[in-house]
This record gives sequence, C-alpha cells and structure tokens, in this order.
Amino acid sequence: MTEDDSNRVWQVLEKMTDERNRIVSGKASDEDARVEASVRPSTFSDYIGQDRVKENLQIAVEAARARGEALDHVLLYGPPGLGKTTLAQILANEMGSSIKISSGPLLEKKGDLTAVLTSLDPGDFLFLDEIHRLQPALEEILYPAMEDFRVDLIIGQGPGARVHPYQLNRFTLIGATTRAGLIMAPLRSRFGIVHRLEFYSPEDLLRIVVRSAKIMGITMDEPGASEIARRSRGTPRVANRLLRRVRDYAEVRAQGHITLGVARDALAMLCVDEHGLDEVDRNLMLTIIEKYNGGPVGLNTIAASLSEEEDAIEEMYEPYLMQLGLLDRTQRGRVATALAYKHFGKEEPRRQPGLFS
Ligand code: ADE
Repeated sequence: MTEDDSNRVWQVLEKMTDERNRIVSGKASDEDARVEASVRPSTFSDYIGQDRVKENLQIAVEAARARGEALDHVLLYGPPGLGKTTLAQILANEMGSSIKISSGPLLEKKGDLTAVLTSLDPGDFLFLDEIHRLQPALEEILYPAMEDFRVDLIIGQGPGARVHPYQLNRFTLIGATTRAGLIMAPLRSRFGIVHRLEFYSPEDLLRIVVRSAKIMGITMDEPGASEIARRSRGTPRVANRLLRRVRDYAEVRAQGHITLGVARDALAMLCVDEHGLDEVDRNLMLTIIEKYNGGPVGLNTIAASLSEEEDAIEEMYEPYLMQLGLLDRTQRGRVATALAYKHFGKEEPRRQPGLFS
C-alpha cells in the first residue's frame, strides 16, 4: 500500500468513527442537513412535542406581534437533535421575518460577526448555533449589539484608532447551545427568553415518524413506526435518520413496506438495540462496569480508555444514558447504576459500604 492509500484508509476510518456518522448521534450529518429541510415543520401547528416550550414561545410571539415589536432574544439549550434550529426557523416564520444562520465556531474574527450584524434588516432573526463556542472577544461585541443594537467600529490602528458607534437595526438573536453551563452570566442575562429542550416522549416521536414517513412517501404500519420511535433516543433527528435507513432495508428486502419485523431486522443490522443504544454507548457502559468495577470513575479516565473526547462523552453520550437511568454523574465520578448491570446482563459487585452510608 502506498503512503497515499494508507492516508486514505485512515481518513475513511476516521470518518466512520466520527460522531456525525454515528447512526444514533444527535449531531447533524451532511445527509441529515439536506433531508431535514424537506421534513422540518415551519409553523408551531406542525411542530410536535416540547409542549411547554412551544406554548411559552407562542405567547411571546403573539404578544410581540400585537405590540408591533421585535421578539426578545431567545436562548435554547439541550442535547443535539431536539429541534433548536427548527424552533428558530419557526419563530422567524411566525414573526414574518427572515433568518440568517451562523454558528460560534464559524465566526473566527471580530469582523466576521460585525459583518453579519450590520447586514441584518429591521426585524431580522440571527440564529447562532453552538453559541458557547463563540470566542470571548466576539462575545463582547454581542453585548452592546443585543442590548442597544450598537456595534463599535474601530477605524484605524494604534494610537490613532478611533471608535465609531454604529446603530444596528433591531433584530432578534436566537442562541442555541448543547452546553448551557459554558455560557457565562453576562451573555446569558442578555437573553429575555431562555428554554431548555427535553428528550421527546415515545408518543411524540411516533407522531414525528408518521409525519416524516408521509412527507417522504414511505409506507409503514404502526408497530413498525413505534419500533423506530422507541429506539430513537428521544431525538427527532435520530428518528428521521433511522426511518431513512429502515426504508433502505425495506426497499431491498421487503418491497418497501415497513412492518415491525422489518424495523427490528433493519435495526439489528444497524446494531441499534431496543433502547436505541449503539456500540459506543455499550463500550462506555461496559468500560465502567468491567474495567472500573462500576465506578465511580473520572470522565478523563473514561475518555482515555475509549479514545474519545471528554466533550463528546459529556455532550452526546451521557445525557441519554442518564435519562435511561443507566449512568449517574456523582461528585466522585461516573457510576453504572443497578439498572445498567441488569441491562447488560452483568452481576452487580458487592460495594463496600461508605463511611456514612
Ligand atoms: N421533525 C423533526 N422534529 C419535528 C417536530 N418536533 N415536529 C414535527 N416534525 C419534526
């Protein structure tokens, strides 16, 4: 194998293990981004689930519209794939406004953010995804922009540099983050509306799967749809992705019709278990159970054992494992629960009683 071939093999392997290519990841792959646009609801009435957040946002929109004002800035947080971008687009749509979309990591220099802000028309929405990854120097630009709709343009360099305040049009910032804990108080306090998105119930996910299948012209029965919903980790993006993969399987093996049996066979082939866990989740839990006697074990130790990023573990894998009750985060580290031992068919060790227990 030439060096070029070997590099290519590594690139493919890296891509296969990349979080975005994981079948049950909440992060959007390129394919998700393309397909989601066609099934994404554009009004509150088409949006399923997140009832509490939806109702609060609907009231804020109606009130702002009645007063003829721009909507207050909104911060949406929660695990990836739960519909933060979709809600931002619905908010702009319901306010009859245009939306510009960018993200923390995309904006590298002060000028990048200033250019976006000065391009906004009155009433426009700006969606800033992964706002926790915005550089501190850029965050400082956001403060007067959010509060007084002003940016300070610096003309010239060195001692001759002068500050020119520039009045922006009134706009609404929608910030989105998977890591609310990383948003510092000065930024957070400038959002008038703050909501956390929760994992969806299996009932809501079923309605989403049925709606998407209808839009995509997929035929399926209810048990088939329920099976996909149940294994989707409470996440619409995962539900829609599993639906597409099960459809592929059904087209090749079952004349395109999705039944319970077809869904089960397809999901078994994709190595997604009955709770929506994949190989990475299983490795994580089995590492804690087998290598560290159930924990407590530090996040850095788990990350090193799995060759994964600490951030990815915290942001992507753990929230759903905790939601299922398989994992606990304690002060002393991560702990596999009794339920985790049961789920993986392992015998729970007799733990030494603590000094105070
Ligand atoms: N597709 C993805 N998320 C959705 C939601 N919350 N409601 C309807 N369709 C969706």
